[in-house]
Amino acid sequence: MSKPFIVVCDGMDKSVFEDLKAQDGLEVHPKAKLTQEEIKELLPKINGLVIRSATKPNKEFIDQAPNLKYIIRAGEGTDNIDKAYCQEKGIKVSNTPGANNNSAAEHAMALIMTVLRKTAQANSSMKSGKWEKSQFTGNELWKKTVGIMGFGRIGQILCKRLQGFEPNVLFFDPGVKESPFPYAKKVETLEELFSQSDIVSIHTPLLEATKGVVNSELMSKMKPDAILVNAARGKIVNEDDLYTTLKEGKIKGAGFDVFANEPLEENSKLTELENIVLTPHLGGSTEEAQFRVGEMAAAQMVDFFVNDKLHNEVKA
Ligand code: MLT
Repeated sequence: MSKPFIVVCDGMDKSVFEDLKAQDGLEVHPKAKLTQEEIKELLPKINGLVIRSATKPNKEFIDQAPNLKYIIRAGEGTDNIDKAYCQEKGIKVSNTPGANNNSAAEHAMALIMTVLRKTAQANSSMKSGKWEKSQFTGNELWKKTVGIMGFGRIGQILCKRLQGFEPNVLFFDPGVKESPFPYAKKVETLEELFSQSDIVSIHTPLLEATKGVVNSELMSKMKPDAILVNAARGKIVNEDDLYTTLKEGKIKGAGFDVFANEPLEENSKLTELENIVLTPHLGGSTEEAQFRVGEMAAAQMVDFFVNDKLHNEVKA
């Protein structure tokens, strides 16, 4: 009997990938990162897929993969997978919950500090031979009010990591009944969160209920010198409204790691703005997180095909 054919599409920690390839019960494609054209060619014979955010198993993709049984999203968010269609076709979907959460929270932290202290702009200025000290006066984080939108695993890690700065932490999350920490206060509405915070950091998943909720109306409630950070999902924020809010100086700045369309279009209006710092979806991109995510994905793949066990299933 032929072994299940596994393709790792969007990259994986090298040592974990070598271990996966050495597995007796599986046939693993020799490359850990493939172009979308290469993936397309392999689709008819794939049984198991490991993806990150670049590969998007939508209806058209799935229809070309009649032997696909299992997709693992090596990471947290599964919004790039048409889970309802997978369910219809009997394809199981899992993620690797928690494995990259610390990295995502630390990246939000990095964006907060970068925006407050203008270090990214100062770095570009210095590398163009300038010394524009007076242009880069920043703000402290110490004792500021930080509003965390979404208080799941990542939001809570951010809250803990922030503590050295002695902030007031507010959070909004209808799914969390009581604050798990004495130093974080739950607010009942997004309007309260946005109007009372000096820094708002977004950490909700992308769901129908969260799509586009951060729009001009909500951002208009923010303090004029507040900053907005998004290391969750781009589509939670209306990007046209964000552009106008920043362009008109209605808030002080923003740090964004995620975008409605990724990769961000080369001519995106956001790149024209001085008061936003942009990073290319780096939240989970640390060596440590890649290792943990890869290890978990590989173990889940082996368990599914060799031991008939399904872990961390995500349903539509
Ligand atoms: C995730 O959903 O796991 C994060 O956004 C990180 C990533 O996609 O690499």
